[in-house]
Amino acid sequence: MPESRRVAAVQSPVIPVVGELIAQHPGTISLGQGVVSYPPPEEALAKIETFLADSENHKYKMVQGIPALLEALEGKLRRENGIDISEAHRIVVTAGGNMGFVNALLAIADPDDEIILQTPYYFNHEMAIALANCTAVCVPTDDNYQLRPEAIRQAVTDRTRAVVTISPNNPTGAVYSAAALAEVNALCRERGVYHVHDEAYEYFTYDGAEHCSPGSLPDSADHTVSLFSFSKAYGFASWRIGYMVIPEHLYLAVKKIQDTVVICPPVISQWAALGALEAGAPYCKAHLENIANVRGIVLEELAKIPELVTVPPALGAFYCLMRVHTSLPAMEVVERLVRDFGVAVIPGTTFGMTDGCYLRVAYGVLEAHTAAEGLKRLVQGLREIVGAKTP
Ligand SMILES: Cc1ncc(COP(=O)(O)O)c(C=O)c1O
Repeated sequence: MPESRRVAAVQSPVIPVVGELIAQHPGTISLGQGVVSYPPPEEALAKIETFLADSENHKYKMVQGIPALLEALEGKLRRENGIDISEAHRIVVTAGGNMGFVNALLAIADPDDEIILQTPYYFNHEMAIALANCTAVCVPTDDNYQLRPEAIRQAVTDRTRAVVTISPNNPTGAVYSAAALAEVNALCRERGVYHVHDEAYEYFTYDGAEHCSPGSLPDSADHTVSLFSFSKAYGFASWRIGYMVIPEHLYLAVKKIQDTVVICPPVISQWAALGALEAGAPYCKAHLENIANVRGIVLEELAKIPELVTVPPALGAFYCLMRVHTSLPAMEVVERLVRDFGVAVIPGTTFGMTDGCYLRVAYGVLEAHTAAEGLKRLVQGLREIVGAKTP
């Protein structure tokens, strides 16, 4: 029996494909995984006992999240993001940031509606749009992977329902300026479309780059959806907790969707998230020193081969997306890097970069010595694979 046409239209995730390649070549250093190395804070684990102490906690809880977590998130959003939860907003706890995106999409878009993504895009956003039978309209970012508000404006049509932005960005590491985000947010308001902004990497900025939440802008409450995640900041990837700030008028719709899909986000994880908020941003910032150090190694090594790759500024998250000066297909370069040099990266094609060869390096999970060895292999591999092809 065939799968649905809806699913047939969705790209297959490339991470498992690269994972399979790595499994076939033991000893490969993976620069592919978008995760951090550290575990959740102790405060998070301590809350498991609180959860277990009440047998009522084994029952379903409210679809939008447990009240204690919602209240703690309200404080965090006010203090750190400048988002003052008013009558115009609602917070919904989700089973991860990806679920927040799907909730938003299903709440605002019908089949054949258009959603504007910036390329390179985060592949799960593009996959969700295909799954919802909507159309991803891709607007290329500039040479530094920064937003092009005028191009976004031109791309808006009668069918457009939302413009999606991610900052700090996966896969590029770009951090968008407050001015650019404000411009996009304003154009969304003028054109009557939503601005969906993903802030999964809000704490991961370097070299003085500043994170900005468009949901804090005046007149943004009615058309802005802000998506957050515990996965990266608190080493929570498998616990599946995120949250979204939505306009009040989408609340019922989002609750209907979430009720249908998960009923409620895992309650044990919500208690853990409450504990994580007690540790707060300083927990992530402490680990960020190590990640910043690894980032330094990555950028320094790649800067040694300017004739082979261009690395636009990557001031956030834990990625960079290099442009490789070759006509070889990205996947072929990835395969040869794993097979012949024992290092894995992700091909840019999976982020919608089909014109040219792009490779994403992820460094959030690496220790300095592994990063140094991985980059040595990568640079040597690129010298041999691409250098040989460069006229
Ligand atoms: C931009 C972005 N949003 C969302 C997610 C997924 O987050 P979560 O684990 O909370 O679903 C990721 C994970 O890599 C991401 O890069």
